[in-house]
Amino acid sequence: MPRKFCVGGNWKCNGTVEEIKKIVNTLNAAADVPGEDVVEVVIGPPFVYIPLVKSILRPDFAIAGQNCWVKKGGAFTGEISAEMFKDLAIPWVILGHSERRALCGESNEFVADKVVYALSQGLKVMACVGETLQQRESGQTNDVVAAQTKAIADKVKDWKNVVIAYEPVWAIGTGKVATPAQAQEVHAALRSWLEKNVSSDVASKTRILYGGSVTAANCVEIGSQPDVDGFLVGGAALKPEFVDIIKAAN
Ligand code: G3H
Repeated sequence: MPRKFCVGGNWKCNGTVEEIKKIVNTLNAAADVPGEDVVEVVIGPPFVYIPLVKSILRPDFAIAGQNCWVKKGGAFTGEISAEMFKDLAIPWVILGHSERRALCGESNEFVADKVVYALSQGLKVMACVGETLQQRESGQTNDVVAAQTKAIADKVKDWKNVVIAYEPVWAIGTGKVATPAQAQEVHAALRSWLEKNVSSDVASKTRILYGGSVTAANCVEIGSQPDVDGFLVGGAALKPEFVDIIKAAN
C-alpha cells in the first residue's frame, strides 16, 4: 500500500485574527491542489485560534494542535489535554517538536508518554525527531533519531496513527535546508530502524515527513525522494507558497 503524501503546516506561535483569516482565505481559494486521495493536509494553528480556523478552513484540510498534555486533563495550569482536541473534533496533534524539546525540556521519554496518551484518545500524532548541528557534525545523526524513535517504539503498540517528522534542528527556521540526499539518507535509516526494531509492516506503512526550511523552491526535489512522504512546514506555511508545497504531492 503506497504511503499517502502528507503536508503539515505548523504555524508555531504566530498570527493574529486578521493574518489567520488571510492565510486561510488563500488556502481555501487554492482550487488546483491535489485531492484528499493524493495528499493529506494538516494545519497547526496556535491553540487559541483553533476554533476560528476550524470554522473557516476548507473541509478537506485537517487541523492539528501543536502540543498536548501527557495525561488526562485536570489541575495542569496552562496545558491543553488530548481530550479537549477530541471534544473539538481536532484529529491531529504535533508532539516532540525540537523547540519544545529544547525550550521546555521535553525528554524522549516524556514525548513518548505524550504520544501514547494522545493515541489512546484517538488522536493522530506527528512525532518530531531530529539532530542538532553539533550532533550531525559529530556523526551522531542516526543514533540521535533512532534513540528518539526508540523511546516512542518502546511504548507504542499500534503505529497506524503515527507519522514521524524528521526535522534536523539546524535546518529549522534557518534557511539551511537539508539536501535531498541528506534528507533521504536519514529517512531511509529511520525506516530501516523501524524494520529491524518494530516490524516490516510498520516500516513500510509509516510516513516520514521532512521539516526544516521547506519552501516552494526546494519541496519538489526533497519530496521526490523515495523515503520522504511529505513535509512539516514552519515559516512557509504562513505564506501563499504553502499552496505550492502542497502541490509537490503530485
Ligand atoms: O515544524 C516545522 C519546522 O520546525 C520547520 O520550520 O519550515 O520554519 O524551518 P521551518
